[in-house]
Amino acid sequence: MEKTFLMIKPDGVQRNLIGGIVARFEAKGFKLVGAKLMTISDELAEKHYGEHKDKPFFGELVDFITSGPVFAMVWEGEDVILTARAMMGKTNPKEAASGTVRGDYGLTVGKNIIHGSDSAESAEREIGLFFDREEILSYSKHD
Ligand code: CMP
Repeated sequence: MEKTFLMIKPDGVQRNLIGGIVARFEAKGFKLVGAKLMTISDELAEKHYGEHKDKPFFGELVDFITSGPVFAMVWEGEDVILTARAMMGKTNPKEAASGTVRGDYGLTVGKNIIHGSDSAESAEREIGLFFDREEILSYSKHD
């Protein structure tokens, strides 16, 4: 079954949005198969956001994502990668539709509440960066 990596960023954690955001993905029918509240090191942030290292906002991005606890998650389900992206809304919350996480909770592109993998390749890479194999669970021993 397809898996994706989602992360509630420091702004979402500080604003007590973890429960409300998790509830949306649970209600949709996805399964939470890995989760941890953690603080990201500079090294992990630079690896995770490596594709943006030449962007002018890279320093700001790393500073922000390491500024406080994040809630890192692995979700599982049919087409979860693209469906979770649709549920998150556009990267810039000003352009994100109402009913999406960023559209409902965010205001600025830097503090946009949540990150989600954009492809199967990034999901695999990001899950591997944040989780050990034994931290990802199955709900049934037959899964
Ligand atoms: P995310 O999905 O985590 O992936 C890269 C992040 O870079 C993105 O969400 C935004 O939070 C951030 N980002 C994109 N554009 C800008 C920008 N112009 N200024 C600051 N941060 C940005």
